[in-house]
Amino acid sequence: MADLNGFEHFAAEWLPRLEAEMQAVLALREPDVAQHYQMMHYHMGWADESFQPGLFDTGKRIRPLMCLMACAAVGGEPATALPAAAAVEILHNFSLIHDDIQDGDRTRRHRPTLWTLWGVPQAINVGDGMFALAYAALLRGKQRGVGDARLLAALERFTTCCAALTEGQHLDMGFETRESVSVAIYLRMIEGKTAALLAASLALGALLGGADKTTEDALYRFGRHIGLVFQIRDDILGIWGDPAVTGKAAGNDILRRKKSLPLLYALEDPRVGPLLHDRMGQAISPTDLPGLLDLLAQTSAQSYAEKQAAHHHQMGMAALAEALGPSAKGAPLELLAMGLLERQA
Ligand code: IPE
Ligand code: IPE
Ligand code: MG
Ligand code: MG
Repeated sequence: MADLNGFEHFAAEWLPRLEAEMQAVLALREPDVAQHYQMMHYHMGWADESFQPGLFDTGKRIRPLMCLMACAAVGGEPATALPAAAAVEILHNFSLIHDDIQDGDRTRRHRPTLWTLWGVPQAINVGDGMFALAYAALLRGKQRGVGDARLLAALERFTTCCAALTEGQHLDMGFETRESVSVAIYLRMIEGKTAALLAASLALGALLGGADKTTEDALYRFGRHIGLVFQIRDDILGIWGDPAVTGKAAGNDILRRKKSLPLLYALEDPRVGPLLHDRMGQAISPTDLPGLLDLLAQTSAQSYAEKQAAHHHQMGMAALAEALGPSAKGAPLELLAMGLLERQA
C-alpha cells in the first residue's frame, strides 16, 4: 500500500466501517416490510434487482469521507463522527431517489433507478424512509459518547441543511420552464441543492471532532466552495461527460433543457445565444444532440465553467488554510478537493 496517498489510506480504512454503520441503520426489518428495506439496499449498491446481496456501484461516498476527514483534521477520533457520516450519506441517497423521480431519470450509477423498477409511489416512500433513518443515524452519536449539547448542535446543522437542499431543488426544477436564469440565481440554486450538504458534512465532522466554532465555520466555508466546484463539475460532465464513466445518459442535461452553468453562459453569447435559445424552445430528441453540442462549442461555455470551478476551488483552499493552518498542505481534505475539481465521474 506504499503508493497510496493520504486520501486513499483514509478511505481504505474508513469506508468499510462507514458501510457497516449504514447497514446497521438500514437493517432489514420483519418479513412484511422487508421489501421496503431491500429497495433501500438496492439503491445503496448492496443488492441486485432480486434483492440478492452483492457489490454494485455505491457512488463515491464523498460526503461521509469529508465528514470523517474533517473530524480527524481537527484532532478528533473519526469513529465519533461515524454516525454523522452515515447520516449525510443516507440523506444524500434519499435525495437522489427523489431527484431521479423529479428529473425523470431512468439510470443512476449504471443501473435502473428505483422508480423505474418499483414505481413512483414506492420509490417516494423508500426515499421518505431513508430521510427519517438519516436522523436515526445521526442520533446514534449518543452511543459513541457524543454529549447532548453537541448532538443538538449537530441536529440543528443537519436540519438547516435538509431545508436548504429542498430550496435548491425547488429552484432547479423551476429553472426548466423559466425563460431566463441569471448566474446569481443559478449559484443560489447549487448552493442549496449541492453545496449545503457538502458544507454540513464538513461542519458536522469538525463539530463532533471537538473543534471550536471558528474552525467549524471555516470548514463549513471550505465545504461550501468545494460544493460549488463539485456541482459546476457535475454540470460540465452532464454535457460533455463520458456516459461509460458517469453512469448517466449522454447529453442528458441538454436533452432535458437543464439550465446548467455552461448552457446559461452560451445562451448569453451574442452570436450563438439567440439561435440556441430558439433550438432549445423546440422539441429536442437525441438526434439533435450533435448540432446543439456544436453550437455550444462555438462559445467558450466549457472553459468559462472550468474557470468558475477553479475560482471556487481557490476560495475553498483559503478557507481550509484558515481552518487547519500549515497542516492543510497535503492533507487528505486538500487532495479530496483537488480530486473533485478534476473528476470524470
Ligand atoms: C450527485 O452526487 C448529485 C449531486 C449533488 C451532483 P454524487 O456525484 O456525489 O453522487 P454519487 O453518490 O457519487 O453517486
Ligand atoms: C441532484 O442534482 C441534487 C440532489 C439530489 C439534491 P442533479 O439532478 O443535478 O444531479 P444528478 O445529475 O441527477 O446526479
Ligand atoms: Mg438529477
Ligand atoms: Mg435534479
